[in-house]
Amino acid sequence: MEIFTFRSQKVAYYYFAASVLLFFLQIIFGLASVAQYVWPDFALNWMPFNVSRSIHINLLIFWMFLAIMGATYYVLVEEAGRELYSRKIAMIQLIVFCAAGVGAIISYFFHYYDGQGLEYVEAAPVFDWMVVVAGLLWIYNLIKTLHKAPKKSPINTLLLITTIAAILMYLPGMPYLRNFVVQDYLRWWVIHYWVEATWEMYETLFIGYLIIKLFNIPKERMYRWFYIEFFLILASGILGMGHHYFWIGTPHYWTWVGSIFSVFEAIPPVAMMIDGLIYARKTKIKVKNLPALYWLIGGTIGSFIGLTILGGSQTWFSVNYWMHGTEVTAAHGHMAFFGAFAAILIAFIYYSVERRKGEENFKDTITDKHRWAWAFWLMNIGMVMMVLAMEVVGIMQISISRVMGQGYIAAQIHQIEWFAVWFVTGIVFFAGTVFYVWDFIVAMKEKSA
Ligand code: HEM
Ligand code: HEM
Ligand SMILES: [Fe+2]
Repeated sequence: MEIFTFRSQKVAYYYFAASVLLFFLQIIFGLASVAQYVWPDFALNWMPFNVSRSIHINLLIFWMFLAIMGATYYVLVEEAGRELYSRKIAMIQLIVFCAAGVGAIISYFFHYYDGQGLEYVEAAPVFDWMVVVAGLLWIYNLIKTLHKAPKKSPINTLLLITTIAAILMYLPGMPYLRNFVVQDYLRWWVIHYWVEATWEMYETLFIGYLIIKLFNIPKERMYRWFYIEFFLILASGILGMGHHYFWIGTPHYWTWVGSIFSVFEAIPPVAMMIDGLIYARKTKIKVKNLPALYWLIGGTIGSFIGLTILGGSQTWFSVNYWMHGTEVTAAHGHMAFFGAFAAILIAFIYYSVERRKGEENFKDTITDKHRWAWAFWLMNIGMVMMVLAMEVVGIMQISISRVMGQGYIAAQIHQIEWFAVWFVTGIVFFAGTVFYVWDFIVAMKEKSA
């Protein structure tokens, strides 16, 4: 049976393979980072905390972007009804982007940063430029493929707009400015307009695409959610930036703007999942690809908890005054990144690896081994437990340092046991990652149909 209508869809798997590998490494560096809270001397001489932490969060951005790039190409050709303009450009883009990621990570071991240690965008200029080159190749390939494509699709139009915006929003983090206040102000454009604008649009598009595929739902029913999300991002995502402007010297009105907006933007992903499930129940559709379905449902629940509940609860400025920059923020950061992006991208990867064999063959491939279920439950339970540990650590930090006014280290002495809980629950998460990587390798080793 011919599964791939378009041969160029296969480039996506190279992106997914790179993404799975970097994800695995991200978790190892996460464990190393928390280990340094528990045993402060751990790897101190060759990998201090700032290095392990930078690598942990940089790998996060790189693996997610690789998966996004792969998924974009996968969806693009199918929706456009034609082969990719150039597979070669797609492969060069992959190599340049991976070289930027790996180069940046190695450079941190030699303390080669952008000069100001800007969290999330701390890579030195040479790597920034490589990211931009990869981004431009990506945009070029998308535009050329869509030009004169036989089919027009709102998914593709939105994918193109989102990609252009995502690459544009990388630029404000690049220049070196002597005034740190202005520099930090611009750094937030990258972070907030990535996660709460462009990446959130990708999230919505991929959830919608998967629901259409898994539930056989009429496309138009999902399209309307895309437009609602697009509108919400323009309205609430853009103004929601205010929640990062509270304490960095910006005008006072941002406290109100930042407190009020943002909370609504995570509604469409959850709503479209519910809509899909209602449809599936009514039409009695049995979804065959269980890993993709589980990760989709898990991701939308995680998204709701991570964004609307944990994000929403710290976005009010008088609450933020107390918890700003504590581990309560890290709890929100983990749950949001995991639910909104990691889970949805993993769902996409499971969907696409199963498609290689044809969904009819689904039972013969990876699911019958239950590895996917181990991966799913260990990662999800591990993440929820880690987030709870982070909340405890964060609340201790608030009460000891912020309320009682004792120093940062005074709080740490009490926090150590809870950092240990974070470490142990991190091992649970790590075990799930091993099953996921194993699943991916097994699935890719099998010949595609
Ligand atoms: C997928 C979407 C989101 C992701 C991945 C995400 C991730 C993050 C991360 C990693 C940080 C820490 C940044 C840093 O300190 O350098 C952060 C901060 C913050 N986020 Fe989100 N976020 C998302 C959506 C939201 C939403 C929807 C809200 C509000 C409803 C929100 C409210 C906040 C606030 C108030 C802060 C600042 C916390 C502080 O002052 O320390 N976030 N977010
Ligand atoms: C075994 C699993 C993991 C462990 C042990 C771990 C550990 C850590 C540690 C220790 C930090 C630094 C916190 C600090 O600055 O005080 C951190 C930061 C971060 N990690 Fe993880 N992590 C893990 C998995 C993940 C996953 C799966 C994601 C996303 C999907 C993630 C996203 C982040 C983010 C966004 C930050 C920065 C948070 C902020 O800016 O406040 N981590 N992680
Ligand atoms: Fe934000």
